[in-house]
Amino acid sequence: MSRKPFIAGNWKLNLTGDEGSALITSLIAAAASSRAEVAVFPTALAVPAAVKAAAGSIIRVGVQNVHWEEKGAFTGEISASLAKAAGATHVLLGHSERRQYFGETDQTVNKRLKAVLAQGLVPILAIGETLAERDGGKLEEVLSRQVKGALEGFTAAQLSTLVLAYEPVWAIGTGRTATTAQAQEAHAFVRGVVRGIDGGLAERVRIQYGGSVKADNAKELLSQPDVDGALVGGASLKTADFAAILAAA
Ligand code: 13P
Repeated sequence: MSRKPFIAGNWKLNLTGDEGSALITSLIAAAASSRAEVAVFPTALAVPAAVKAAAGSIIRVGVQNVHWEEKGAFTGEISASLAKAAGATHVLLGHSERRQYFGETDQTVNKRLKAVLAQGLVPILAIGETLAERDGGKLEEVLSRQVKGALEGFTAAQLSTLVLAYEPVWAIGTGRTATTAQAQEAHAFVRGVVRGIDGGLAERVRIQYGGSVKADNAKELLSQPDVDGALVGGASLKTADFAAILAAA
């Protein structure tokens, strides 16, 4: 089955509204000539400016996280309905930096996913093992637990827009990309886990690779049968680098 490639840029804690707008404007032509679906994830504060800059283009804008409650006494949080009202169409969930530094668990990701789907937003669920887990022979156990834990209680129909992102923690921001064989192996395994939930969903779901994706390794990674796109950190902050990755797709 052919799946449309999906390239997303996770800007993390970088770029003001003005800087993000300028970056989007400079990417519009590259996005238009790419075969891929394209989205960027600015900080929540920069979302409105990004939405404005991306208007009329194929570039979509998402947020990097949302709380599971819609409103209330949750100081410092944003909700899926607020993200939607600001023009966001996608939400990143379960990024390893949130798991590592902010106590995110499979259970809290599951609750956030419910809020995201209730608003009709597209979730990108990030999963991935640490180096200690990989070296300890726990790759499959970790990926399986993360996928099943986050998706528990949802039907295949509810998950029809789901996107997954396999991001080995040891490859994020380190310049140490997974080899194409390691990426393909993990992606095929993750697709197998989804097959355990629903066969059709497994064929349709796009699995992005993330972790030191650059212009010079994107093509090879994206050539793998189960690699359906990329979730790009550092290289999504520079026009030339991100445009080259869009061209590679
Ligand atoms: P880098 O591309 O900077 O390694 O970051 C990957 C990532 O965490 C994307 O979500």
